[in-house]
Amino acid sequence: MMNQQVPNNLFSPTKIGAIDVSNRVAMAPLTRSRADMEGVHSELAVEYYRQRASAGLIITEATNISQEGRGYAFTPGIYNDAQIAAWRKVTDAVHEAGGKIVCQLWHVGRMSHVDLQENNVAPVAPSAIQADELIFLPDQTQARPSMPRALETDEIPRIVEDYRNAARCARDANFDGIEVHAANCYLLDQFIRDSTNRRTDKYGGSVENRTRFPVDVVTAISEIWGPDRVGVRLSPITRAVGDTPLDSDPQGTYGYLAKRLGSLGLAYLHCVEGQTRGPNAASNFDFMELRASFGGQYIANNGYDRDLAVKAVHSGHADMIAFGQAYIANPDLVERLKIGAPLADGVKSTYYGGGAEGYTDYPTFGSKTSS
Ligand SMILES: Cc1cc2nc3c(=O)[nH]c(=O)nc-3n(C[C@H](O)[C@H](O)[C@H](O)COP(=O)(O)O)c2cc1C
Repeated sequence: MMNQQVPNNLFSPTKIGAIDVSNRVAMAPLTRSRADMEGVHSELAVEYYRQRASAGLIITEATNISQEGRGYAFTPGIYNDAQIAAWRKVTDAVHEAGGKIVCQLWHVGRMSHVDLQENNVAPVAPSAIQADELIFLPDQTQARPSMPRALETDEIPRIVEDYRNAARCARDANFDGIEVHAANCYLLDQFIRDSTNRRTDKYGGSVENRTRFPVDVVTAISEIWGPDRVGVRLSPITRAVGDTPLDSDPQGTYGYLAKRLGSLGLAYLHCVEGQTRGPNAASNFDFMELRASFGGQYIANNGYDRDLAVKAVHSGHADMIAFGQAYIANPDLVERLKIGAPLADGVKSTYYGGGAEGYTDYPTFGSKTSS
């Protein structure tokens, strides 16, 4: 009998965990810093996400699980009623336009500043090692993160509960699922890497101990959502914006974590393949080995263009491809990729902060610009 199987196609529908998606193009999480100082979105965000709803799956910008977890001014939160109400308008708009949207849950750990913390206390981290990065403050200036305080062993379950609360709030806001942000050198990644985790308790030392907290977080969120609506993002070989050192054995460490996560029956593993925002270049890291350790569905990201994306889905390298920077200036990215239309470049000075300019004013292909 002839094989009737249709080859995987970037534009064909599929199911990612329990989420039905209309195509394999995901919008990667993009911090745009346009919420208010209380972490509440305005109508502008509703329009921004609605414009991008033809993506098979939208992964929201990183969203704070608590004030303690915030490291950048004007980023949204998902831990109180006002934030839930604002996100609810976003999810309604995306659903009305036929899209799906998951909320990326974020705690920055040491990548914060006393000016962003309640009562100006020190940010928290696995160990008291100051980050050599830059973050945004409420007065729109940039600063080096403050010296963090190492979390006490008995405080960590409290942060797991903060994640659980945020997951509940995201359910109330009618998202389709959760992406746990365990990438880009933020809190969970700080625990995973031996370069930022020097603890000697049950959350430090061996790889089993260093992955305990991230696994506890994912388990708690899965209890709220069901594991098939929970994904995890990892970036094993990213040095953040500055120079957060890598783990001493990325393949072994993240492979071990992927295997543990795989046993939970999650919706997907989402990997930044390379240095985040760098090229999709060959590296020493074997992402297919990571994927095999996880054993479930896989979203690939970083430097993908149309050809790479088509090939990666066709060959079975990935179930979906997430596009980041391309989504800034191309709200109709899926339609453009379908016909091979040229992609517009985003204006970098409007990536973070500001209003509609460089946010909701990018035209769709073939439509007239407002200028
Ligand atoms: C403006 C901007 C904001 C970003 N914000 C986030 C974020 O909130 N969470 C996250 O995991 N990655 C974030 N990233 C990384 C992107 O999701 C993505 O990994 C990166 O841009 C590489 O993909 P690309 O080559 O398709 O752009 C951000 C990238 C950019 C350019």
